[in-house]
Amino acid sequence: MRENQSAGLSREQLEAYWMPFTGNRQFKEDPRMIVASEGNYYIDAEGRKIFDSLSGLWTCGIGHNHPKITEAIAEQARTLDYAPAFQFGHTKAFELANRVKELTPEGLDYVFFTNSGSESAETSLKMARAYWRQKGQPTKTKLIGRSKGYHGVNFGGISVGGIGGNRKLFGQAVDADHLSHTLFSENAYTQGLPEYGTDHLIKEFEELIALHDASNIAALIIEPIAGSAGVVVPPKGYLKKVREMCDKHNILLIFDEVITAFGRMGSMTGAEEFGVTPDILNMAKQITNGAIPMGAVITSSEIYDTFMAAGGPDYMVELPHGYTYSGHPIACAAGLASLEILEQEQLPQRVKELSGYFGDAVHSLKGSDNILDIRNYGFAAGITLASYPGEPARRPYEVAMKAWEKGVYLRFGGDCVALGLPFTTEKHEIDMLVDVLRESIG
Ligand SMILES: Cc1ncc(COP(=O)(O)O)c(C=O)c1O
Repeated sequence: MRENQSAGLSREQLEAYWMPFTGNRQFKEDPRMIVASEGNYYIDAEGRKIFDSLSGLWTCGIGHNHPKITEAIAEQARTLDYAPAFQFGHTKAFELANRVKELTPEGLDYVFFTNSGSESAETSLKMARAYWRQKGQPTKTKLIGRSKGYHGVNFGGISVGGIGGNRKLFGQAVDADHLSHTLFSENAYTQGLPEYGTDHLIKEFEELIALHDASNIAALIIEPIAGSAGVVVPPKGYLKKVREMCDKHNILLIFDEVITAFGRMGSMTGAEEFGVTPDILNMAKQITNGAIPMGAVITSSEIYDTFMAAGGPDYMVELPHGYTYSGHPIACAAGLASLEILEQEQLPQRVKELSGYFGDAVHSLKGSDNILDIRNYGFAAGITLASYPGEPARRPYEVAMKAWEKGVYLRFGGDCVALGLPFTTEKHEIDMLVDVLRESIG
């Protein structure tokens, strides 16, 4: 173990922490400890500046340690550190719900707070099933996800999720079926939305509905752009046609926008960017710029009103669901500050303006050895790497380790590396990143 990379902790001290989604054995032998952050950079245990090419984990688009967020958190901790989430309220949760409503498309009106993307997924799936019960259609229980979809790690989320490695150890828990993903070799190396695939995918959706019958299907959950599976972009027209199919067959449409809200696509949400409004929209990550855990689910009035109408006497709980930390005061304070910064500093617009430059830069890697595909939209890009025979995950890991040595934090997983730039990234940082990628991949 390199002592200087472990920030002074001994090998023994590294043992107790079972790290999430991490190769624990490898990390503990060769730690990569982050000790501080500022703007678009981390500082590692050796004092090196490391460019944050995934905005944390798609969380910190504003950049790290923004003084307004830091101050909002400190002030809230001094004033009201916690308030019971059930049956009592505090003003910041209502304020933040209104802000979220203002920043999401018209028709999405009621905000339910969670603490993570996984909890947003579970909340939306439970709401969908409960909605149909309250409407007197209790057979509508089946949930449809997509291959390569990621909806967090809880049992509902992995059931609709479509990343095999995240499911195989745990088994199927919730009744779900899956549509195909939207990654086609025909669309390799497309910048932005690709051409091929919509008709064929929609036909498949129609067939799946016919197989199960719409009377048994509660909802379809999809990411407008799937991030975790290596940035999978939908073909042109796909999201609109999915919406039409859901309307035609009375199936709720859930957008999991845990990565795409707020700003990453060059608009506040993917729904806004692609002109498609779901019945339920899930978010997390960017809502507090990652500074404090928080997630949220926003629904149509139709869904909220259905629960209110079926709720019995008005002192009764209409939806028996919620978390101790739903709408946590400190998270709400961080959320209000983050959303204000995103708007005031016009960061989604900045992403839109620079996304062409970013796309061109990333696509300039085409032709490098070991690259099979490059995809991008907004400030997100995925690069598929050629695998070593029988070792699909090894090359991305090796590339990310090389990038770390060269001063870039790079997200790797499956056969891909992914980029999710801070919204404040400058052109020279994009150039530097692409140089590091070229050297690390080659
Ligand atoms: C689309 C999507 N949904 C859900 C999640 C899970 O979020 P969390 O890790 O906060 O539970 C993620 C995380 O990357 C995500 O990308």
